[in-house]
Amino acid sequence: MKFIVCDNYEEISAEGAKIFAEQIKKKPNSILGLATGSTPVGMYQNLIQMVKEGTLSFKDCRSFNLDEYYPISPDNDQSYRYFMNTNLFNHIDMDISNTRVLNGLAEDAKAECVKYDEEIDAAGGIDIQVLGIGHNGHIAFNEPDEKLICGTHLTSLTESTINANARFFEKKEDVPTQSLTMGMASILKAKKIILLASGKGKHQAIAELLDDTITTSNPSTLLKLHPDTTIICDRDAYEG
Ligand code: PGA
Repeated sequence: MKFIVCDNYEEISAEGAKIFAEQIKKKPNSILGLATGSTPVGMYQNLIQMVKEGTLSFKDCRSFNLDEYYPISPDNDQSYRYFMNTNLFNHIDMDISNTRVLNGLAEDAKAECVKYDEEIDAAGGIDIQVLGIGHNGHIAFNEPDEKLICGTHLTSLTESTINANARFFEKKEDVPTQSLTMGMASILKAKKIILLASGKGKHQAIAELLDDTITTSNPSTLLKLHPDTTIICDRDAYEG
């Protein structure tokens, strides 16, 4: 696990975008693993800028997103499909049919999850995965627990995550209590991973990445098992 400690959020965003752009230039038909949340927005803005300037093209890329609330309609402005369209896909030259987000309206959630892992495998696996991190160390919706589920699955949000996400909704009761999420094994199959973290609120979770232990009570520590993970964070997240 490698660390890049930046001075501020702008630097994190630029650094993340640089690594993503390098990957796409090296392999124009890269399979991208994408994330929602406030942290990757700056990185997406940098990538959009590169497309506008004509220095980067997503036209041959395909993408898979980490997670989606369940149940939720893709038209709902709090869905992760809506987030991705407005924060990235609508502004780049990627064919929208090549962007995949878990279907928050799937009648059979389990079948949707199995199909999702199969689709990623059939695409040849994710070349580069961007991750955020929860205050409690969650990755996607893999919340701290005694046991974690390997593959993509339906899960319940913890109180901590519901509280953290309530800021996007009118009231806390509106936050969906379940989600579909890639599992830690699905995520660890990505060939390259970058994790972005900003602010003191993330320090406790990040501090546990600095030692030589893994624990399911901080799912992000499992990333220590991955051969090519880079943590890009600011001093507040790194030092507290
Ligand atoms: P944030 O969320 O980027 O909005 O802090 C990260 C996460 O919960 O994974």
